[in-house]
Amino acid sequence: MPMKQIKKLLKYIEPYKKQIFVSIFCMLNVAILTAFSRWLLKPVIDEIFYSKNIKLLSLIVFAIPAVYLLNGIFIYFKNYITIYVANNIVKTLREETYQHLQKISIDYFITKSSTGKTISKLTNDLNNIFLMLSKIPSVLVTDLITIVGLIFILFYLSVKFALLSLIVLPIALLPIYIFSKKLRHYSRKTQSEIGNLYKNIQESISAIGLTKAFSQEKREINNFNITNTKVYNAILKFSRTELLSSPIMEFIGALGVGLVLFLGGMDVINGKWTPGGFFAFLAAVLSFYQPIKRFAEANPLFQQGIVSLERVFGIMEQESSVIEVETPLEAQFSKLIKFDNVTFSYNKDNRRKNIIKNINLEIPFGKKIALVGPSGAGKSTILNLLMRFYDIDDGNIFIDGKNIKQFSLNSLRKLFGVVTQETFLFNETIKYNITYGRENVTEEEIINATKMAYIFDMIDNLPQKFDTIVGERGYTLSGGERQRIAIARAILKNPQIFIFDEPTSALDAESESIVMKAIYNIVKYKTVLLITHRLNLVSNFDYIYVFSDGEIIEQGQHQQLLKEGKFYASLVSLQQINNI
Ligand SMILES: Nc1ncnc2c1ncn2[C@@H]1O[C@H](COP(=O)(O)OP(=O)(O)O)[C@@H](O)[C@H]1O
Ligand SMILES: [Mg+2]
Repeated sequence: MPMKQIKKLLKYIEPYKKQIFVSIFCMLNVAILTAFSRWLLKPVIDEIFYSKNIKLLSLIVFAIPAVYLLNGIFIYFKNYITIYVANNIVKTLREETYQHLQKISIDYFITKSSTGKTISKLTNDLNNIFLMLSKIPSVLVTDLITIVGLIFILFYLSVKFALLSLIVLPIALLPIYIFSKKLRHYSRKTQSEIGNLYKNIQESISAIGLTKAFSQEKREINNFNITNTKVYNAILKFSRTELLSSPIMEFIGALGVGLVLFLGGMDVINGKWTPGGFFAFLAAVLSFYQPIKRFAEANPLFQQGIVSLERVFGIMEQESSVIEVETPLEAQFSKLIKFDNVTFSYNKDNRRKNIIKNINLEIPFGKKIALVGPSGAGKSTILNLLMRFYDIDDGNIFIDGKNIKQFSLNSLRKLFGVVTQETFLFNETIKYNITYGRENVTEEEIINATKMAYIFDMIDNLPQKFDTIVGERGYTLSGGERQRIAIARAILKNPQIFIFDEPTSALDAESESIVMKAIYNIVKYKTVLLITHRLNLVSNFDYIYVFSDGEIIEQGQHQQLLKEGKFYASLVSLQQINNI
């Protein structure tokens, strides 16, 4: 399991071979200089106290700071290079994950993950990976060198006891192996609970207005506390295992030392081993367990990093359900959009329910087409399918006789200028929001578009005009103003076809009439698809499709449908009654 993640990670480490080589070189030097600085103390004692050698004393006075200075330089570079490489790898991972998120099809965000969880992977998990990459290599290299060195010394001092000590070593390493799986399990739990915490925070802050209006602060605080406690418990469970492995290893190590002490002591008593050799060996065995202890302490960091890698790679492994063909065509629209016997459902599992059932529908270039019908009938779904946010299950959608699956997604979506029921505005200037989706727009184009959308005067009266910040924390716009900004944005995109999905349904009558005026400005010269349940808006449209429960139950022009006196006619009379 961890091997899979490590293998994938190696691909990201590879470009930094040179830096890693230099950093290992620094680590080697640090190990050697550390040993050397210890060794320097021996002549201090021997030469200075016994031989009273002043010349050597003054030499050593300079040698010690020099060795420490050199060592310090190597330590600095080994640490800096390690962090440099770790930081670069994490940056690349973050970029690639984000790029993948931008490209992945929309169903991932709607059904497979939440905003908060995704944010937690891009921040918290990548931070774990950074910790692992910046801390583990140093431990690994330095301690491996120490261990190899010590093994040589052990064999040099006594082959018999060296072999004995090395039998204990794998037993002492056993807890690392046993605990690793558990650590990963608890780490997975922790990361997932932290993801839930992010989700909770993100959602509750977005819904703060609703919460206050319904006086549900207590409920939100309770929910938060439950999630927060789960994070707390998960971390405690992880820590219990994390903290256990080092003492257990030390205990096994102590058993080994005890064994050597006993058997070695017996040899000394029996005169088979000199006391000097025995004590030197004991000292070496004792220093053996230090690096192993550090391995045990680094292991949780490693396992946690592996789990985080698993989670981040998990995003990148998400395949899009909507995929471009290998050599896509540029989408063109100058004749006809045609839905040919289209069937579609959002759920592909056994709860499958067709939302769109054998729909046949045509949007000729230059015409004004309306989709009407009760909510939940599948009108917005038609729009999702046309823009290939989802792929249909059966039938075909053609634009100018070509299947839309042949087109590149970018060129297909360039055809449409969409205004939906709820308009999203970035927390940026009005200009940024209006020109989103366009590069190199002229001042004149912006003014024309906003005039056409009946929003120019309103913007012009703002103190900072087009530079006014709107959106989350900016100037608050009314629903009608937001819609007109969305219309200006769609106009600037200069699409082949405008699609309005219930653009006025959240508006009062006055705002609705001005938004409709803006829409009729467009209707005059462009192909328009208007989805609405306000039937008074579509009386002069070229063709009307009446949807009900995923099917087209009536179609034709307004007058014709009225004459037929069926569902459409009954809806119209119902709305007229309501208007009185
Ligand atoms: N992303 C989705 N996943 C699952 N079901 C959905 C999704 N979007 C819409 N639906 C369902 O599909 C049906 C049609 O929705 P929609 O096309 O939005 O209707 P309309 O726009 O006519 O009001 C509804 O029952 C709705 O619950
Ligand atoms: Mg809808």
